[in-house]
Amino acid sequence: MQNFSNKNVLLCVTGGIAAYKSAEIIRLFKKDEADVRVVMTESAKEFITPLTLQAVSGNEIHDSLLDIKAESAMGHIELAKWADLILIAPCTADSMSKIVYGRADDLMGALILASNAEIFIAPAMNMNMWLDKTTQENYKTLLSRGFSFIGPAEGEQACGDVGPGRMVEPIKIIELIKSALNQGPLSGKTITITAGPTREQIDPVRFISNNSSGKMGYAMASAAVEAGAIVNLISGPVTLLADKSVNLYKVNSADEMLEMSIKYMEDADVFIGCAAVSDYKSMDISDIKIKKEAADGLNIHLKKNKDILSTIAAKYPSAYHVGFAAETNNVDFNAKEKLVSKKVDMIISNDVSNTAIGFDVDDNEVNVITNKESIFLKKDKKIRIAREILNIISMKINKK
Ligand code: CTP
Repeated sequence: MQNFSNKNVLLCVTGGIAAYKSAEIIRLFKKDEADVRVVMTESAKEFITPLTLQAVSGNEIHDSLLDIKAESAMGHIELAKWADLILIAPCTADSMSKIVYGRADDLMGALILASNAEIFIAPAMNMNMWLDKTTQENYKTLLSRGFSFIGPAEGEQACGDVGPGRMVEPIKIIELIKSALNQGPLSGKTITITAGPTREQIDPVRFISNNSSGKMGYAMASAAVEAGAIVNLISGPVTLLADKSVNLYKVNSADEMLEMSIKYMEDADVFIGCAAVSDYKSMDISDIKIKKEAADGLNIHLKKNKDILSTIAAKYPSAYHVGFAAETNNVDFNAKEKLVSKKVDMIISNDVSNTAIGFDVDDNEVNVITNKESIFLKKDKKIRIAREILNIISMKINKK
C-alpha cells in the first residue's frame, strides 16, 4: 500500500504543544487520498484552533460526546465504526492514562473503546513525564493490548530539556503507519520496473519502435503494489493508466530509460526489465524532417543501444534482477542464454509468435527460469501471471 485511498482516518488531537503539527499530519494523509476526520479534546483547542483543522481536513471537527447536533449528524458509535484507523497525535501522558483506564467521559475516550480499528499512538510530552514509572507502565499496558506506538522521538523539547518525548515528525508518522499496514510479501521492498516500448527518434517526426503495449509491465507494477512494494515504473510511450499507487516516470528513448532506471535503483531491492527496449538507435538524429529526395532508397545508420538490464545488474549487484525474454523460436533455450549473458537472477520467457499471448493482448503464458529451475505458468490474464511471478520473486528475495 502506498497511499490511503478508500481509507477513513480518525485523527485524535490531544492537548500538547505538538498539536500545531496536526494540520501537517492531516495534509499528508489527504495527499495520500485518505478521508480524514478530526477529534479534538478540550485542551487540544488551547494549542490549535478547530477552525484550522476543519479547514485542512475538509470535515467538521468532532469534539463533544453530548452534543445533540453532532450526535445526530454522526454519532460517536457511528464515527468509531467509520474509522479504518485511528491515530492519536500528539498523545499526552494524561490521554495515555485515560485510555489505560478505559475512561469514556469524553468523545475520544468513548471512541477508543467503541472502535475495532487499529490504533496508533504518537506520544508527546516532557522527557521526565515520559520516563516516569507510571507513564512507562501505561505504555507497556497499551502495547500489550495491541496499541501501536510511534515514538516518541528524542531531541530538544519545547521546555528546553533534551531526551525522549518529542512527537515523531508528521512525515515519519505517515511512513511508519504505511509500513505497519503493509503486510504483503513485498512490504518494505522497493521495485523498479521498466515497461512498454522505447522510441528512437530518426528525425523530428519519425521514430523506430515496436509493438509492445506495456500491458505486462503495468500488470507487474499493479501486482507489486498489491504485494506491498513501493513501485517505480519507468514507462515508454503507452496508452495505459498506471495504478494510482505507482510512481510513474515516462520516458521515450532507451537512453532516457537507462538514465531513469539508474536514478530509481539507488534504493531499490528488485529490478524488473519488462520493457521492449529498442536494440538500435539512429547514429545521428536529423534536426529537420528528412525529405524523400533519394530516388531508390534511404540508408539509416543505426548503432546499438546499451542493454539496460545487464547494465543495472552489473551496477547494483545486491539487488534481485529479473528480465523478460520475448522470443519467437527456441524460446527457453534463448531465454536461458539471456539469464547467463545478462547475469540476472531470473528470466521470464514467453513466445511472442503466439498471437494469443504476448504483445498487446490481455493474456500471457510464461516460463519462470532461474539457474535452478523452470516454472511453467499456464495461460492466464496478465495480472494473474504477474501476481504469480511476484510471489516467486518474493520467496526468492526473502530467502536471499
Ligand atoms: N533489455 C534491456 N535493454 C536493451 C535490450 C533488452 O534492458 N537494450 C532487456 C529487456 O527489458 C528484457 C531483456 O533485456 O528484460 C531481454 O530483452 P529481449 O528484447 O528479449 O532481448 P535482447 O536482449 O534485446 O536480445 P534479442 O533482441 O537479440 O533477442
